[in-house]
Amino acid sequence: MSLKEKINPERLPRHIAIIMDGNGRWAKNHGQHRVFGHRNGVTAVREASEAAAELGVEYLTLYAFSTENWNRPLIEVNALMQLLLQTINDEISTLNKNNIRLNAIGDLESLPKVNRKNLMKAIEETRNNSRMTLTLALSYSSKWEIVQAARRLAEQVQAGLCKPEDVDQQCIEKLLTTNGIPDPELLIRTSGEYRISNFMLWQIAYSELYFTPTLWPDFRREDLYKAILDYQCRERRFGKTSEQIQNVKKQE
Ligand code: IPE
Ligand code: IPE
Ligand code: MG
Repeated sequence: MSLKEKINPERLPRHIAIIMDGNGRWAKNHGQHRVFGHRNGVTAVREASEAAAELGVEYLTLYAFSTENWNRPLIEVNALMQLLLQTINDEISTLNKNNIRLNAIGDLESLPKVNRKNLMKAIEETRNNSRMTLTLALSYSSKWEIVQAARRLAEQVQAGLCKPEDVDQQCIEKLLTTNGIPDPELLIRTSGEYRISNFMLWQIAYSELYFTPTLWPDFRREDLYKAILDYQCRERRFGKTSEQIQNVKKQE
C-alpha cells in the first residue's frame, strides 16, 4: 500500500498551512548562493499544491515571505520578488488546468508595484476555480495582521458601528486577512526549526503542528502524505477528555 493509499479521505484536513523553510541551507549544501535554493523551492511548491489538490484538501496556505524577511540583504529580497513575479506568470495556466484558485494575504501594498499588479491579475484569472484555494502569505506576519484588525475595529467603534461589549471572536475573525477561510487543522514547518515565526498566531490556536527536518526544496508529495498520515493518528480533543471524544465516535 502506498503512503497516498493509507490516507483516510474521511479525515482529511480541510486546510493545511506550510512554513516553507530551509532554502538557504539547501543552497549552501549544494555549494550555491541562497537564491539557488529559493529557485529550487518552486518545484516543492508545485508538488505540495498538486498533491493537496488531488487529495481533496480545500485550502493550502504557504508562508512565502514574512514582514521580517524585508530585513534580509537587498540582493536576496530583490531576487525573491523577481522569482515571485516569474513564478506567478509561469504558473497561471497550470493553476487553471488544475482548477486551483490563487489568493494572497499580507501587506500587499508593501510589495513592488509590478508584483502587486501581476499578483492581482493571477488572482482575477483564477477566481472561478473551485477545487482548492492556494493562499500565498506575502509580506505577512501575524502581529501585523492583528494590529491592522485592531485598528479597523477601533475605527468601527469610534464610528458607532459596533459597541465594545459586542466585540467577540467572530468580529475579530472577520477583520483578519483569512476571513472566510477555516483555521488550518494542520501546520507543517520544514527544515527542522521548531518555531512559528509570526505566522497565523490566531488561526493556529488549535492546529496540529508537524515539524520535519526536510529542507523545503527537497519537499515532495510523499512528505505531504507523511504529514497528513501523522495528523490522522492524532486525537484532537479541543479541551475535552479522551473518553468524551471516544464516546462521540462510538455514537457515530
Ligand atoms: C525559506 O527559506 C524561504 C524564505 C524565508 C523566503 P530560508 O531562506 O529561510 O532558508 P534558511 O532558513 O536560511 O535555510
Ligand atoms: C519564516 O522563515 C518565513 C517564511 C517561511 C516565509 P524564516 O527563515 O524567515 O524564519 P526565521 O526568521 O528563521 O524564524
Ligand atoms: Mg529560514
